[in-house]
Amino acid sequence: MTDPDVHFIAVASGKGGVGKSTVTVNLAAALARQGKKVGLIDGDIYGFSVPDMMGIEEGPVVVDGSIVPVERFGVKVMSMGFFIRENNPVVWRGPMLGKMLHQFFSDVNWGKLDYLLLDLPPGTGDIALDVHQMLPQSKEIIVTTPHATAAFVAARAGAMAIQTNHEILGVVENMAYYECSHCGEKDYVFGRGGGGQLAETLHTNLLAQFPLGAPDNHISEPDFSPSVYKSESTSGKLYNELAASIITKCENEV
Ligand SMILES: Nc1ncnc2c1ncn2[C@@H]1O[C@H](COP(=O)(O)OP(=O)(O)OP(=O)(O)O)[C@@H](O)[C@H]1O
Ligand SMILES: [Mg+2]
Repeated sequence: MTDPDVHFIAVASGKGGVGKSTVTVNLAAALARQGKKVGLIDGDIYGFSVPDMMGIEEGPVVVDGSIVPVERFGVKVMSMGFFIRENNPVVWRGPMLGKMLHQFFSDVNWGKLDYLLLDLPPGTGDIALDVHQMLPQSKEIIVTTPHATAAFVAARAGAMAIQTNHEILGVVENMAYYECSHCGEKDYVFGRGGGGQLAETLHTNLLAQFPLGAPDNHISEPDFSPSVYKSESTSGKLYNELAASIITKCENEV
């Protein structure tokens, strides 16, 4: 994976559970809807979740000695979850994790890609550092909730990106508000302003604010997935807008 035309985007956060994986899978699907060739690496080797979140049930196949990623919603996906039986835990030490991640780049037949998104584990640990070293050209999106502490902790992930010379594309605020389905009023249940404050600290932009709400999917639908919002839903439309602004940022650079 040394194609100079691929845009690498790592999705990072300070705290866990703020929605990195949700943002990564939905941004990937939205980029694919806009005609881009998209790959997604679930870089959370211990805490992999992407296959389940996207409703992937099959595993990758090996053709001519290289692994062919699984495609879902137009996104080519690679995850540790494909190699683990029945949701058993991964019990490895740090260096093995880096090796696995390395293999996701070197032994996987990605084909031609425009974007390769990386869902990182929370914080500034081993894997995040490996990614910084392995992919010096990677750009980053930092995810936070609107809560001041989440934004404060996320600033450390941002500082790590800056220290390793990764360009920060911007901040995404997830779970920004709850919108009442009857009256449309917004309730800021997790507080307000964390995303904007973080963007200011990191001298970057607030790219998007996503509301609270699970995708309106039904398990009987053929394209069921627990975490991918439909294109025409409120969040789906916001993800389409985020994808468009990412494309502009990445492709209009000289
Ligand atoms: N906007 C949202 N509205 C409602 N639920 C959400 C939203 N975003 C994420 N969630 C839910 O919150 C939980 C955490 O989200 P997710 O797994 O994407 O976070 P994460 O930052 O990747 O977590 P981890 O740090 O464990 O990797 C999941 O159950 C997810 O479905
Ligand atoms: Mg995650």
